[in-house]
Amino acid sequence: MENSKIIAVVGATGAQGKGLVNAILNDKESGFKVRAITRNAGSDKAKELSKMGVEVVEADVDDKASLVKAFKGTYGAFCLTFFWEHFSPEKENLHAKNMAEAASEAGVKHVIWSTLEDTRKWIPLDDDRMPTLSGKYKVPHFDAKGESNVYFENSGIPYTLLNTSFYWENFIYFGLGPQKGPDGKLGITFPMGDKKLPGIASDDIGKCAYSIFKGGKEFQGKTVSIAGEHLTGNQMATAFSKHLGVEVKYNNVPASVYRSFDFPGADDMGNMFQFKAEFEADFCGARDINATKKLNPELLNFDSWLEKNKSSIKIE
Ligand SMILES: NC(=O)c1ccc[n+]([C@@H]2O[C@H](COP(=O)([O-])OP(=O)(O)OC[C@H]3O[C@@H](n4cnc5c(N)ncnc54)[C@H](OP(=O)(O)O)[C@@H]3O)[C@@H](O)[C@H]2O)c1
Repeated sequence: MENSKIIAVVGATGAQGKGLVNAILNDKESGFKVRAITRNAGSDKAKELSKMGVEVVEADVDDKASLVKAFKGTYGAFCLTFFWEHFSPEKENLHAKNMAEAASEAGVKHVIWSTLEDTRKWIPLDDDRMPTLSGKYKVPHFDAKGESNVYFENSGIPYTLLNTSFYWENFIYFGLGPQKGPDGKLGITFPMGDKKLPGIASDDIGKCAYSIFKGGKEFQGKTVSIAGEHLTGNQMATAFSKHLGVEVKYNNVPASVYRSFDFPGADDMGNMFQFKAEFEADFCGARDINATKKLNPELLNFDSWLEKNKSSIKIE
């Protein structure tokens, strides 16, 4: 479409970015076009996007000059970082700074930063209810994102801070799905007692981001926090049992036990769940479901997400 407003999507081949790419492609009369950012235009996923008519441009969040080039001529930029690729909060800071500066230098008119809370505002480092990690973080993959908000706030360009939620796809791709315990029974395990975990279908993040770009001024200079539903472990286990046709229980373990699990980032995740449980009122309170539905009328709840995705959940 001539005169379309281009939106550059960082992470276009990944979970959040893909949702935004599809939301733009599915809205043919919108006046928006998408520019997918990838490190490798020759990858299968990038070629798939090209085949769908998407402009694919190479850039790396490590390389600010490549981002300036990729953002040139765009109306909007969707920015996110990739903690689980490198486990480094300092890299997240640098990548966020690169994106904010690049968006400013390229003259982008609206940038969305996909972020999370800096948990140290609730739990200072000297609060020993949970360990301090890497010397200066409580929940590294949250804190570095929240700390990086300032780069966008100071960028001089219209920005929206988008606080996301736990993707339910973690039950498919992140090893958090139902697993058999020593008793042979299936269970989902996390340390949240009877507190509610806000969750969302990852595609819905992109749909919300698209609505924010379309809303423009209404959302600029603001923080928008989104979720599809708030559920306790027991409620999620009941939904799993219904959709999988086998009993799934909720194993509520202490956060200290979760932190000791043998997978990379277990300490970070243990602190994260503990933070969400102890500050349930603030964390859930910020993520209003009706407001999220206003942004994205197709918003899934956990039941409808499970209905769509149950065949992808491998029971071990
Ligand atoms: N899992 C959750 O529940 C959850 C919830 C909220 C927030 N988050 C946050 O979401 C972020 C990850 O987003 P995602 O899940 O959408 O990622 P993802 O599905 O893992 O995909 C990320 C994409 O980004 C691209 N990428 C990776 N490194 C890059 C770099 N250096 N420069 C440019 N592009 C790069 C890759 O594309 P190419 O290979 O094509 O370059 C990849 O396909 C993390 O920071 C995580 O903390 C996760």
